[in-house]
Formats: sequence, C-alpha cells, structure tokens
Amino acid sequence: MKSKQPQTSSKLRINLKKTLLKFPFLYRAIHKILKKAKKINLNEEGVAGEELRFLLEYMGKNGIILEIGIFGGQTTRRLSKNNFVIGIDPYIGDSETGTLLGEYPEDVYLRFIKNTLGRKIMLFPLTSDEAFNFWNKNINKKIINSIFVDGLHTYEGVKTDFQWCKYLKKGGIIAFHDTNLKGVNDFLEDYLFSNQNYQYLGGKHTTKVFKKIK
Ligand SMILES: C[S@@+](CC[C@H](N)C(=O)[O-])C[C@H]1O[C@@H](n2cnc3c(N)ncnc32)[C@H](O)[C@@H]1O
Repeated sequence: MKSKQPQTSSKLRINLKKTLLKFPFLYRAIHKILKKAKKINLNEEGVAGEELRFLLEYMGKNGIILEIGIFGGQTTRRLSKNNFVIGIDPYIGDSETGTLLGEYPEDVYLRFIKNTLGRKIMLFPLTSDEAFNFWNKNINKKIINSIFVDGLHTYEGVKTDFQWCKYLKKGGIIAFHDTNLKGVNDFLEDYLFSNQNYQYLGGKHTTKVFKKIK
C-alpha cells in the first residue's frame, strides 16, 4: 500500500494559492491587503528616485529605448517621458499557479495600459527571444539607442536579451537591472566586464550600465 507523503509547507502554500485564485474577488482583496501591510504602493513600482535619474542620465532624450520586461509599466512610463520605448513582455503567468509575480497577468497588463496611455510606446507581447526572431525576420533595423534589461533574471534569460545588442547603435548603452541576482551577475562577469566592445560606465543600486564602443 502506498503511504501518503506529507505535503511540504511550500506545496501547501501553492495549493492554498491555487484554491484562492479560483475566487478572483477574494484573491485580489487579499493581495491588496498584503501589499498594504507590506507598505508596497503600486505607484512606486519599478525603477525610481536616484536609480532612475542615474539611468536617464545615460539614456538621454529623444532616443529609442528597448525595455525587456515591462510588468506594470511604471518604469516604462518614466522612460517614455522623453523617449520612444519599444517594450517586450509576454505577460504569461508561472507554470505552477498561472500568476505573474503573484498577480493575475491580465491585472498587470491592465496596469501597464493605464500607466502608459498616451505615451510613445510599442509593445511586443512576446518573450525576448520570440521578439528578437520577429525583429530579425521582419524589421532587421539597427535603430536602438538604449536597452534596459529587466525580464527573465536567469543566466540564460539575460544571455538571450543580450542578443538584442545586434540592433544597438554604436555609442548606445545597455543597462541591466537586478544585478544582485546570481544569474544576472554571473552573465555580466562572463560576457560584459572583459568585453572589448563594451565599456563599463558605472552602477547605482542594482542597475549597471555599459556603453557599446565598437
Ligand atoms: C521584474 S519585472 C519587470 C519590471 C519592470 N521593468 C519595472 O521596472 O517595473 C519582470 C518582467 O519580465 C517579464 N518576463 C519574463 N520572462 C520574460 C522573457 N523571456 N522575455 C521578456 N520578458 C519576460 C515578466 O512577465 C515580468 O513582467
């Protein structure tokens, strides 16, 4: 006879979450309460304050910025104040619960729409890899002045995003967010810091900026 394995606490948490997700009204209410309890204000999401000023200093104005990983669009709204932003985000939930960083993907997408209404933005609702293949096949133009990498924060994810430098103009910059994460940091150590084609310009908080010099 098979003995029933006791559920681990993380499995229990996932199952509880899955159950709650079947009741969107309840799930959204709990999510809101938790955000409030943790003092997380959705208007303060994304890159802001001195980290944003640091980034914008290098990105400048009137250029084309590629932002990989948009989420609720708070950073996109700030970047697109004086620039055109090409955004990439598949807006797909995780395989376990279907949520995107704890939220219904459609709620996050709606927040992106509200945050960026009227701004100069073009969104590719695709993964970075899919959008890159689309661009290769159908657009194939080197028009990007800056890239902000903030999508899939794994080594392979960032490596995929780095392909986009094919379309980054010489003198343009590529900035990586969340460089405190192992996958992102390891990629920078392996591919950027000793790369003759890129110059490290500096960092602020978890953002690190490089210039394409060749
Ligand atoms: C940390 S959030 C982005 C935050 C956003 N840049 C900001 O500052 O508010 C990461 C986003 O990357 C997206 N993402 C995950 N995998 C991706 C991929 N392969 N390509 C592009 N975006 C991806 C997720 O859907 C999520 O919205």
